[in-house]
Amino acid sequence: MTYEEFREAVKELVSSGRYPSKKSCTLPALWIAEKNFPRIDHEIMRIIASELEIPLVEVEEAAEFYAMFHTKPKGKYVIRVCTNLSCMLNGAEEIVEELSRLLGISPGETTPDGLFTLEEYECMGLCDGAPALTVNEERFLNVTKEQLPAILEKFGWKGK
Ligand code: FES
Repeated sequence: MTYEEFREAVKELVSSGRYPSKKSCTLPALWIAEKNFPRIDHEIMRIIASELEIPLVEVEEAAEFYAMFHTKPKGKYVIRVCTNLSCMLNGAEEIVEELSRLLGISPGETTPDGLFTLEEYECMGLCDGAPALTVNEERFLNVTKEQLPAILEKFGWKGK
């Protein structure tokens, strides 16, 4: 998506009638940006602020506050491991450690080839499948350490 296409998408949000005010389009606009750009950069935030007629700082605060938005470059695939109570009690810590070991990165980092970003995440509502993780939109439940290489390979991991 280009910046101009993004601007048009934000205009469409505003004119869709689905939101009660321009300002209430902030999070949906950020979500469009998150899905279509490697990161939410200054120009994207400027477009949102200008189309929604709100201060730039309000867009910046929203983009920084919510963990699902990336203002720093992210990998093609974002791996989110839930580390809330149910998942933690069922081995989430071991899952994070093993993913860190296999990918050679810590949580919050991206692999040098730009393929994976690893994140610890709040409860995803998948507690009955704890420990749970997602890779972009795909969910993995009752994950074991042994399953991790196969999960990574599905997304193009070539091994350690
Ligand atoms: S505690 Fe992990 S999905 Fe709810």
